[in-house]
This record gives sequence, C-alpha cells and structure tokens, in this order.
Amino acid sequence: MLIERCTSVEQLGWLELRQALWTDCATEVQLLEMAEHVAIPQRFADFVAYSDWGKPVGLAEAAMRTDYVNGTTSTPVAFLEGIYVLPESRRQGVAASLVAAVCGWARECGCDELASDAALENPLSHAVHRALGFEETERVVFFRKRLAGG
Ligand SMILES: CC(C)(COP(=O)(O)OP(=O)(O)OC[C@H]1O[C@@H](n2cnc3c(N)ncnc32)[C@H](O)[C@@H]1OP(=O)(O)O)[C@@H](O)C(=O)NCCC(=O)NCCS
Repeated sequence: MLIERCTSVEQLGWLELRQALWTDCATEVQLLEMAEHVAIPQRFADFVAYSDWGKPVGLAEAAMRTDYVNGTTSTPVAFLEGIYVLPESRRQGVAASLVAAVCGWARECGCDELASDAALENPLSHAVHRALGFEETERVVFFRKRLAGG
C-alpha cells in the first residue's frame, strides 16, 4: 500500500473517494474545497491510499483547527475531518495507515493532539476510532435557534 498526500485537485482518486464519503456534496463544491485545501497546505492535509496495483482505495482528510476543539487541551490541534475506505478494501489496515499519515503530518506541524468526531448513532466509527488509538472525550448535542423572523 502507498499513501500519498494530495498536492493537486488532479490527485488520482481523490474526487471519487470524496464523492463516496460526502454523497450530498455537489461535484463543483467538492472541487472548490479541494482547490482550497491544496492552496493552504499549512491548514489542510489530505491523503489517498493506493493498493499495490495503484488503485485508489482510501481517503483521509485533516485540518488544523485553531478554535477550541471539545475534549482537547492544546491549540492548534489537528482534526480528522473524514476517512473513507472502499468496501472491498476494508479490514486490511488502510484506515490505520491513513491515520498514521495524518499523525505524521500533525506531529510535523507541532501538534500534541489529533482530534476527531463521530455521530452518536455510528458505533462502527466509535469502534474504529478506539482501535486506531483515539480515546473518547465528550458527547455533545448541537443546537441552533433561527434568528430570522423574530
Ligand atoms: C471506518 C473505515 C474507514 C475503516 O476502514 P478500514 O480500512 O476497514 O479500517 P482498518 O482495516 O484500518 O481497521 C482498523 C481497526 O478498526 C476496527 N474495525 C474496522 N472495521 C471494523 C468493523 N466493521 N467492525 C468493528 N471493528 C472494526 C478493527 O479493530 C480494525 O483492526 P483489525 O482489522 O486488525 O481488527 C471504513 O469502514 C469506512 O470507510 N466506513 C464508511 C465511512 C465511515 O463510516 N467513516 C467514518 C468512520 S471513522
């Protein structure tokens, strides 16, 4: 397996893996976000995993967060924004390798912590996080109050 950091929106497999992970995000929005990521490498780091035959099989995206991140004690912290592995390539250590690459980037940036989140109703994600060395810190519920219209 080979892990490559994305340095161009043309990175083989990046768009397709993103589309598989964030299915409700339009392609033009995906491409805009990817362009932003490669333009600000000190803030974003995206990694694609390739099989021994060169097929893109997994994606991890991370960002440097300067605002407070729940459960952390330092700032800035690296944040795992998304991770996805093709169904046929799962349980082969692809996600573990991708997270290792993200950790390497975060350490190079001087971070002490890598944070992440998962939906309450996604126990698979919780199990994978724990297996990859994350510890659970907090459970939160987000709220909003619409301000338009009184
Ligand atoms: C979550 C996901 C990225 C894991 O990718 P993966 O390459 O299969 O993960 P790995 O092979 O590196 O697994 C690492 C460890 O996580 C745990 N794990 C992985 N898949 C698991 C599953 N389906 N059930 C329970 N534990 C699991 C295991 O402990 C595993 O180690 P092991 O295989 O030696 O037992 C992949 O299943 C996926 O893309 N799911 C859909 C997207 C998603 O839910 N993303 C958010 C998840 S954090």
